[in-house]
Amino acid sequence: MQPKGTVGRSEYILETKNLVKRFGGLVAVNNVNIKIKRQTVTMLMGPNGAGKTTFVNTCTGVLKPDGGRVIFDGKDITGWPPHKIYASGFVRTFQIPEPFKSLTVLENILVAMKNPGESPLRAPWKRSWVKHEEENLKRAFSILMRVGLDKYWDWEAYKLGGGQLKMLEVARALAVGAKLIALDEPIGGVDPVYANDILSYVRRLKDDLKLTFLLIEHRIDIALPFADYVYVMDRGKVIAEGTPDEVANNPKVIEIYIG
Ligand SMILES: Nc1ncnc2c1ncn2[C@@H]1O[C@H](COP(=O)(O)OP(=O)(O)OP(=O)(O)O)[C@@H](O)[C@H]1O
Ligand SMILES: [Mg+2]
Repeated sequence: MQPKGTVGRSEYILETKNLVKRFGGLVAVNNVNIKIKRQTVTMLMGPNGAGKTTFVNTCTGVLKPDGGRVIFDGKDITGWPPHKIYASGFVRTFQIPEPFKSLTVLENILVAMKNPGESPLRAPWKRSWVKHEEENLKRAFSILMRVGLDKYWDWEAYKLGGGQLKMLEVARALAVGAKLIALDEPIGGVDPVYANDILSYVRRLKDDLKLTFLLIEHRIDIALPFADYVYVMDRGKVIAEGTPDEVANNPKVIEIYIG
């Protein structure tokens, strides 16, 4: 028998079924059905106010849904609190990153990791957790290399640029063992060269660590080529989906972005 709340593993790591989120009379997320295949970069695009951030907030427990279901990695997580969803491997980054700004880049990664030395029961057995700390340190550096921040390891986080802060958030997600990482506008306000670097890191992480990404963007000119599959939202609804090519040639999408 499957444990309670288990709906079985599928090829999709995330599936929403008629998800609804209202703010008073405004239906910000209106019966949204989105499926994210494992080990893909799935993009969610749409104009300002389309409901993209609200969708992610409703999936990750920041907001309580008013209707529908959220299935993550074979479990029905609808209405779970954010910390439980985070611990189960669905991690989101914020449109405005919120690192510990006075800590160094490396410390930001280390605090995201579990350290048994912090447990009052384990603290007296120093040798066992010193080894663990060394392993954490090695792992933290390898994570920083994967997001191109290793050379800034001893910088305080507040000295990083906007794009680098987004990568620091990705690194923290890797440190907690995320399976699905939702990135809310990772290249917002970032120059095109570094924006391409960021998205290249994301694709490499997907391949090397078998991760799945949900990429929220409106700078489609830069981001579209990095996506495997695309959903387009407008005024709370999914109005188109398909491959980047299909979506770029969809008349409804062209109308929103150009017309
Ligand atoms: N906490 C809130 N209370 C009331 N209305 C909200 C709240 N959060 C978002 N909204 C409204 O819900 C709609 C969707 O907003 P949302 O932030 O999800 O859009 P978005 O697609 O992420 O836009 P952007 O591209 O500008 O980030 C907007 O009309 C917004 O004003
Ligand atoms: Mg948003």
